[in-house]
Amino acid sequence: MVKEKRRIAIITSGGDASGMNAVIRATTRYAIYRGLEVYGFYEGYKGLINNNFKMLDSNSVGGIIDRGGTFLYSARSEEFKTRSGQKKAINNLKDNKIEGLVIVGGDGSFRGGHDLHTQGIQVVGIPATIDNDIAGTDFSIGFDTALNVIIDLVSKIRDTASSHERTFVVEVMGRNSGIIAVNTGIACGADYILIPEKKVDLAKIAGQIKRHRKGKRHTLIIVAEGAASANDVASSIKLLAGHEVRVSVLGHIQRGGSPSALDRVLAAKFSKKAVDLLLEGESDCMVGIKSMKIVKNKFMDILEEKKGIDEELYKLVHVLSM
Ligand code: ADP
Ligand code: F6P
Repeated sequence: MVKEKRRIAIITSGGDASGMNAVIRATTRYAIYRGLEVYGFYEGYKGLINNNFKMLDSNSVGGIIDRGGTFLYSARSEEFKTRSGQKKAINNLKDNKIEGLVIVGGDGSFRGGHDLHTQGIQVVGIPATIDNDIAGTDFSIGFDTALNVIIDLVSKIRDTASSHERTFVVEVMGRNSGIIAVNTGIACGADYILIPEKKVDLAKIAGQIKRHRKGKRHTLIIVAEGAASANDVASSIKLLAGHEVRVSVLGHIQRGGSPSALDRVLAAKFSKKAVDLLLEGESDCMVGIKSMKIVKNKFMDILEEKKGIDEELYKLVHVLSM
């Protein structure tokens, strides 16, 4: 009699992040190499509830390593937050004889993963969000690519800003976190950054801009979306400094594009570890990278901890802009 292969599933959930496709590819191929069968459910938890899936073989994940977005699609499912929604998802997994689930997403998705675990499903998470706001890992998939997209866009803004001796306020994503903004500030040589974690005095900034420091043809202010709206900041600066200010809200462009080398390599490392953990019988945990080492964290540990900004990096933005 032919022995049935053990089955695992993979979903991509929450806001998409470039590199999710590289994760689906690596997880699928490594799991097949380890003797497993892999099923991809569409649209995150929505697909688990609707039993919407396809079996993934090596060929079906070919040609996606360099594509942004996620070919399994993503969604935010309110139904999954309910016990009845979760029951439907669990029944579908059980009916399809799926023993383990890889969840690729952010902290919201891992809260759902923890719920599944408490109801008997084996789950391992792979952090993927441009916000990089998940504790227990130095990097989440998509963050490095988003930063690369942002620095390309901001350097274009700098070209025109310095031609016209202008102040620009650029709004970046990050939800409630200033991590994208701090790293953008360093990587783009911003003059000021506004983040939800720190209070700033706009009148003081306006005063400094007004005095216009010698040798500077432009002023670049990076605003995290969680701190303020770029338009409001620009209006205040204009009022207080008395000169023209231009605004650029980068928006969802930050989530697109081909994944960076770092995100592709991380995708391979995270995927291997996630499959290894499932095979070792581990559950209720997320893989991560800490000080260059691939690690495992319990969901509840990372969900209870708020990942803050790097304080040293925040100070350095202002030191380096002097
Ligand atoms: P992310 O995973 O990027 O943080 P969301 O916060 O939108 O994105 O969460 C993705 C999905 O995870 C939600 O649409 C929902 O289905 C599920 N989810 C989020 N929070 C919870 C929760 N507290 N309990 C159960 N499921 C949740
Ligand atoms: O979590 C990723 C993220 O891009 C945040 O930075 C942003 O606040 C949010 O998702 C936007 O969500 P939506 O795609 O639903 O507009």
